Amino acid sequence: MRHKHSDYMHWAKTQSIARFNLATSGVAAFPLRELPVDLNQLEINGDNSYGYAPLQTAIAKRYGVDPECVVESAGTSMANHLAMAAVIEPGDEVLIEHPAYGPILDVAYYLGANVKRFWRTEDSGWVVDPAEVRNSVTPKTRLIVITNLHNPTSVLTPNSILREIGDIARSIGALVLVDEVYLDAVYEETPRTSFHLGPQFVVTSSLTKVYGVSGLRCGWILARPDLAWQMRRLNDLYSATAVYPGELLGVIAFQHLNLLRERARRIVEADRRLLNDFLKHERKLSVVCTEWGTTSFVRLSRNRGSKADDFLEHLRSEFDTSAVPGRFFEMPEHFRIGMGVNTGIFAEGLNRISRALAYPTALKT
Ligand SMILES: Cc1ncc(COP(=O)(O)O)c(C=O)c1O
Repeated sequence: MRHKHSDYMHWAKTQSIARFNLATSGVAAFPLRELPVDLNQLEINGDNSYGYAPLQTAIAKRYGVDPECVVESAGTSMANHLAMAAVIEPGDEVLIEHPAYGPILDVAYYLGANVKRFWRTEDSGWVVDPAEVRNSVTPKTRLIVITNLHNPTSVLTPNSILREIGDIARSIGALVLVDEVYLDAVYEETPRTSFHLGPQFVVTSSLTKVYGVSGLRCGWILARPDLAWQMRRLNDLYSATAVYPGELLGVIAFQHLNLLRERARRIVEADRRLLNDFLKHERKLSVVCTEWGTTSFVRLSRNRGSKADDFLEHLRSEFDTSAVPGRFFEMPEHFRIGMGVNTGIFAEGLNRISRALAYPTALKT
């Protein structure tokens, strides 16, 4: 039986809800009423067979690429799926970072890939180490997969390192898939998309995590024209055509991206200040702090001998607070905290984590 589900996605949809929900990864929802939009501009049907040209142009302009290289998709989820499905044959080797965002692994398994891993270690600050990647590829590696910013840790991989990964990929005829859904959460000196690093780069992203308009499902792939065309043809087997009113709203969102981004930025930055202060004083947790990003990956201190699952169970049942268990990233001693939704809720959630950590029975294994 092929792998046909995502445990993480199922958990996120059914188990993450709590009054103090820190199990998020994206910023607060941006309300339609705050978007300068004339609803009379909306239409239900229109010309969008292989993409809605104004949306493709808006994406292309924003990232400095040719519209031919832009493939629309339903969120980064479908972008990752399409990108992998277009280039992987069953049995192909795919090298994926560890820890990884679960659904990326799930898609690779679903496609019958021979999944190999390269390690990003906490001791090294979760960085992508090109030597580790070089040692892990083989002549059969077809694709190397990285998230940037990294989910769950939010660590930024600079383009200089990605260029080295690109060189490794080119030397064996492989491609590099970089999921950049969190990259625009680098609010100062935002790096250029890695798509520009060479034809072996395929980039996925969307407006869901950093811009607060997840409901639009406005996602895309950047790929060289021949691959982009294959992906569009493959999408004929999935969603065929996109939701036209969603594409119209996507164009409007692109016209106001800074408004969306800055609104979220204020919340993310307020939450980060609270988080840094909390982590400075909380001795029972350790973390690699990052300057940017909407998530933080914390570890329960080893001498408590605890699994995060037990702690999070207690946190939810006794303190009505949730965070994402590290087991979804194959790191059972960790958990992920999300910023950028509501600073009052976030502050109280952190307070409740502290109280739960102080509660001795919570940390029994
Ligand atoms: C790394 C990564 N890629 C993709 C997604 C899915 O994004 P979207 O909502 O655009 O489908 C997520 C969501 O958490 C993510 O963390």
